[in-house]
Amino acid sequence: MSRKVLIDKVNIEGIRFYDEYRKNGGYASVEKAFKMSPADVVEEVKKSGLRGRGGAGFPTGMKWSFLAKPEGVPRYLVCNADESEPGTFKDRYLMEFLPHLLIEGLIVSSYALGSGRTYIYIRGEYAWIVDILEKAIAEAKSNNWLGKNILGTGFDCEIYVQRGAGAYICGEETALLESLEGKRGNPRIKPPFPAVKGLWDCPTVVNNVETLAAIVPIINMGGEEYAKIGIGKSTGTKLLSACGNINKPGVYEIDMTISVEEFIYGDEYCGGIANGKKLKACIPGGSSVPILPANLLLKTAKGETRMMTYESLADGGFATGSMMGSGGFIVLDEDQCVVRHTLTLARFYRHESCGQCSPCREGTGWMEKILQNIEYGKGKLTDIDLLWDIQRRIEGNTICPLGDAAAWPVAAAIRHFRDEFEWHVLNPDESQRRNYGLAHYADPLQTVTA
Ligand SMILES: Cc1cc2nc3c(=O)[nH]c(=O)nc-3n(C[C@H](O)[C@H](O)[C@H](O)COP(=O)(O)O)c2cc1C
Ligand code: SF4
Repeated sequence: MSRKVLIDKVNIEGIRFYDEYRKNGGYASVEKAFKMSPADVVEEVKKSGLRGRGGAGFPTGMKWSFLAKPEGVPRYLVCNADESEPGTFKDRYLMEFLPHLLIEGLIVSSYALGSGRTYIYIRGEYAWIVDILEKAIAEAKSNNWLGKNILGTGFDCEIYVQRGAGAYICGEETALLESLEGKRGNPRIKPPFPAVKGLWDCPTVVNNVETLAAIVPIINMGGEEYAKIGIGKSTGTKLLSACGNINKPGVYEIDMTISVEEFIYGDEYCGGIANGKKLKACIPGGSSVPILPANLLLKTAKGETRMMTYESLADGGFATGSMMGSGGFIVLDEDQCVVRHTLTLARFYRHESCGQCSPCREGTGWMEKILQNIEYGKGKLTDIDLLWDIQRRIEGNTICPLGDAAAWPVAAAIRHFRDEFEWHVLNPDESQRRNYGLAHYADPLQTVTA
């Protein structure tokens, strides 16, 4: 049974509201942190081994220690609540059901980083969660956890919620900062990194919702104790949002000591493949990470059991492994068509490309067109190699990682399921028949506005 330290209290009636949250130990980490120096709080986070939960898995304590501290210049903490990665909905769950956990984590983190104005940048579609967060902030403020001279420490802090307008690219930290400044959300060229020049050119830390919520148990139990949960460099617990062809879709907290097989088939988690079907493949970390066929998902290429850790999911590199990513665990059963699935993702990335760099702007559109042709039985065998060539030329050649995120799913689908691409080319009539009647796909090329 997985140890839970983040959502362990989620089923307590009324925990969403201040009184119940406080009665159940809420805000104790703020009291504890205020007895420590900001540098000591950063040190605890370093000891915990916490890695960013937004996708890249960068060590949080190290990121915090990079924050520049020039005299007389404000520093900012920005909470990334954009969560637009297909298959990922764990931050929504945290904010909707445990809003005070995030506010508590934000206060401690703001204190550690010296941020007197902290922002939550939230995707526009989460409108109802904005209300929940704003009510929680008001409750925290009226109970003196926010505002001026909090608990007599001399530390001032306000938290503001800013809604995005629904662009996936605004989850990329520098695009997010542009958007927060009121501009079009185009990623910036790095360096300089936000730790040196971030919001309004001031030193800024951008962290994911789950990362900042995890600061609460880290301070409560101490960094070293937190690091004892999990294995190796996968310390602590991780939230996973599981969806697709499984019996029990939902958000699960795991302690990264379980195997992928246990997560998929265990009654405590996904509860197996729906309708008694067989497992075909899975995207373990949100739409950007490589898809893995069942055999490589459950065992690594070396024949070892694949574990739900950062290291094990990545074992084998992209040739035979994948990534923890944002924790969006998407399961496909034996009836799913990988080409159709890859086309859906390609359409998403083409639509979400900000258009600043040509490999991403042009390449995502080309990949979508070629995939549509193949899926609809209008492709050629040479199109598969062309698709491979295009994704290879996008990867690593763009300003921000959205280009990579568009390329990796295509590369992995061809690498592991080339026979399905060939089947569509060699069976054009059957491919067209399978798609007949799907109105939104009926004349696919018309939907491309390249
Ligand atoms: C296209 C794109 C979209 C992203 N979307 C999100 C997002 O919705 N939420 C998030 O926390 N990080 C997202 N990221 C990662 C952020 O740029 C950044 O690495 C993260 O917020 C850092 O927080 P962490 O260190 O706590 O993980 C995205 C990155 C890219 C390239
Ligand atoms: S990679 Fe794509 S999304 Fe990122 S900056 Fe370039 S064009 Fe924009």
